Amino acid sequence: MELLTDRNTMRAWVQQQRTAGHRIGFVPTMGALHAGHGSLVRESLATTDRTVVSIFVNPTQFGPGEDFDRYPRIFEQDRVMLQELGCHALFYPDVASMYPSGFQTAVTVEPLGSQLCGRERPGHFTGVATVVTVLLNLVRADRAFFGLKDYQQFVIIRQMVRDLGLDCEIVGVPTVREADGMAMSSRNRYLSDEDRQRASAVSAALSAARAAFLAGERESGRLEAIARRILTEAGIHRIQYIAVRSAAALLPLEKIHEDGVILTAVKVGKTRLIDNMVLTLPG
Ligand code: PAF
Repeated sequence: MELLTDRNTMRAWVQQQRTAGHRIGFVPTMGALHAGHGSLVRESLATTDRTVVSIFVNPTQFGPGEDFDRYPRIFEQDRVMLQELGCHALFYPDVASMYPSGFQTAVTVEPLGSQLCGRERPGHFTGVATVVTVLLNLVRADRAFFGLKDYQQFVIIRQMVRDLGLDCEIVGVPTVREADGMAMSSRNRYLSDEDRQRASAVSAALSAARAAFLAGERESGRLEAIARRILTEAGIHRIQYIAVRSAAALLPLEKIHEDGVILTAVKVGKTRLIDNMVLTLPG
């Protein structure tokens, strides 16, 4: 596996691969890799010829008072995992490489980026869209892989790629869950044992709403209420949102007459957790 640490070496490597006729798959990450990232990498390895993973804890997507400084950085462990998975290149730039001095550009996707998580974290999705644009331009991948755990991020990136005419297919990969249903996330490691146990109510709440949907309930408000009750019964009271939206564009849906998604963000202890489940209409 090649280790590439600046824009020029990244570009040169990609140029070489493209000249050799290889199709490039790209998995952008912030490191602290877990089985969810593993499934993105495997999907890329299975469907393209060369897989590049980036590890970059992007400062512009963290707000003041968020966890940028304490975000887990375990590069050596990540590198070994990627090597073992059979990844071809690891892009590991520093901040100066990604944001050279004098950097002035921002990519904003509105109104998609200012609702749900964007309302709780102003500027977050502009940071994400900006860094992903730079990364996609450097890596020039044929396909880029994003976890559906960050459902809103996936929809925003897909919209941005469409709007800007970027030549890259955006692929959403299903969430990988722990045995108790908890969605895998680099931030789960912040949870104390007690909070970790309580946090399993997040996926349980969404599963209960989805079960009601599968049993025929189509009123978004009722599905949201089912999920909310399970969260509060588990002692999770800081619920930033629970919302049923359209799966395609995250538009509000009073009744589910097209495929939907139920999304939530909560705080458990000091840790912010998000999760979602799609509500696919039968047939
Ligand atoms: O999902 C993430 O890990 C990040 O938001 C991403 C896409 C790598 C951009 O920094």
